[in-house]
Amino acid sequence: MYEQLVTLPKVSDRRGNLSFAENFNQIPFEIHRLYWIYDVPGGTERGGHAYKENIEFVIALSGSFDVIIDDGNRIEKVSLNRSYYGLLIPKMTWRKMTNFSTNSLALVLSSTEYNPHDYIRDYQDFLKVVKP
Ligand code: TYD
Repeated sequence: MYEQLVTLPKVSDRRGNLSFAENFNQIPFEIHRLYWIYDVPGGTERGGHAYKENIEFVIALSGSFDVIIDDGNRIEKVSLNRSYYGLLIPKMTWRKMTNFSTNSLALVLSSTEYNPHDYIRDYQDFLKVVKP
């Protein structure tokens, strides 16, 4: 199993819920960057690439969307629809995000700063690396 769905802590009381994540605790790496994806038009697909080094942890802070992850041998779809789930996406994993609900908000915690050279954007190139 190359994908990992992590259930984050959830502290509930009559004032509502609170969830959290810490470096090297719920998140198995040091966070170097956050980005978030929002206002995604219906029917849009995002992602469609792999990273050579970057590891990601994706949370659906609001709404829902699907993450399709592919390690070159196996393709899986994970639906994120609760803000206390996080999906760990290892390096060298092809991933796409689809089926964004209205007003969905995807928070992505990343192990590296943004580096355009870390991307593999061609699926055939990805397969050549993972299945030489
Ligand atoms: P990209 O990673 O291709 O988005 P997605 O995977 O959701 O399809 O990034 C889209 C654009 O945003 C691209 O021009 C690079 C820029 N970008 C940054 O400048 N910093 C970042 O941290 C990220 C993730 C993207």
